[in-house]
Amino acid sequence: MPAPPCAARSKVTDIPVITTQDLTKVYRSRDGRETTALDGVGLHVREGEVYGVLGRSGAGKSTLIRCVNLLERPTSGTVTVDGRDLTALAGRGPRAGAELRRARTRIGMVFQHFNLLSSRTVRANVELPLEILGLTRRERERKALELLDLVGLADKARSYPAQLSGGQKQRVGIARALAGDPKVLLSDEATSALDPGTTRSVLQLLRDLNRQLGLTILLITHEMEVVKAVCDSAALMREGRITESGTVPELLATPGSELARELFPVAGQASGENRTVVDVTFHGETATEPVISRLARTYNVDIAVLGAAMDTVAGRQVGRMRIELPGPFEENVVPIGYLREQGLGIEIVRAPGAPEAEGTSGTAAGLLVRGGAR
Ligand SMILES: Nc1ncnc2c1ncn2[C@@H]1O[C@H](COP(=O)(O)OP(=O)(O)OP(=O)(O)O)[C@@H](O)[C@H]1O
Ligand SMILES: [Mg+2]
Repeated sequence: MPAPPCAARSKVTDIPVITTQDLTKVYRSRDGRETTALDGVGLHVREGEVYGVLGRSGAGKSTLIRCVNLLERPTSGTVTVDGRDLTALAGRGPRAGAELRRARTRIGMVFQHFNLLSSRTVRANVELPLEILGLTRRERERKALELLDLVGLADKARSYPAQLSGGQKQRVGIARALAGDPKVLLSDEATSALDPGTTRSVLQLLRDLNRQLGLTILLITHEMEVVKAVCDSAALMREGRITESGTVPELLATPGSELARELFPVAGQASGENRTVVDVTFHGETATEPVISRLARTYNVDIAVLGAAMDTVAGRQVGRMRIELPGPFEENVVPIGYLREQGLGIEIVRAPGAPEAEGTSGTAAGLLVRGGAR
């Protein structure tokens, strides 16, 4: 592994590195049918961040990432990467192609199926972009070996892709993506063809590269585990739009967040009619257990934990807990206020006796209370 295990987390700055504004992509088929794959997407990825894009099949994730490096020409809107408006470069006549190619060398891309050339050795695969950049043979060789060392494959330089495991092939894909010293790495489902153990080691590599090189990473995934393991921020796409986005702690603290629910699904039914049910989200410094027991002592209430999901996200302990408080909502306003004051995210799931408060959090929207966990 290239980075020592104690390497400090890469510093996320407020400098925007990838920005899309009102990005739209409409595919037109030969018979004139139109598919709107992107519908006004505003994406904001900051320097040093690992940013995950999630969404169902067909939501527009791959189209978005392909528009970010202009492999796909957007129908309208702008894409700015590292301060350069790529959409403007792409549209400026014959010389634009060369400028765009140059700008693209600062954007590495990793693919789900590795896309290695089977007739070339591992080293020659990594050298490919360096040939395009015009480096001498000696420079290419030195750089390729350095990159292979970085991804832990120094001993495989002379092997051919067919002689490698899936995880090793993806490491070669990552080394190749790093050849142009990119500022940004784009990854479209880089781990979805790999088994869970290999997925973990490739994710660890991406995280190490993020820390070591300060590399900004935009990755597409459908695996919540990937978000938990490496992402600082995430966005959820649906039908060509971003429906939720933010840092992972922000999302967890947002009542009703679909991503938070998927990251930490908690279930559990009320044990009786006259019970108030609340989902509590916590992270980092706000540990739940002492808060819950203090709540029970201070207000002399019996609290039942109906369900809980906890994990480490980006090196911090986070989780959600569904608790039940006896009595109708109005009797629990004060204890719930106490939880909120402790910096916990609070979402009312069931609030008997409160107006419009039957059933789930969706219908209790008027009662949603945002915690101070931002
Ligand atoms: N080249 C294309 N021509 C026409 N339609 C396309 C093309 N590429 C994608 N689409 C359509 O655009 C929409 C978004 O596709 P996209 O590949 O971006 O989805 P995705 O979120 O990456 O899905 P998946 O998770 O299955 O990879 C889909 O309806 C798809 O059929
Ligand atoms: Mg896709």
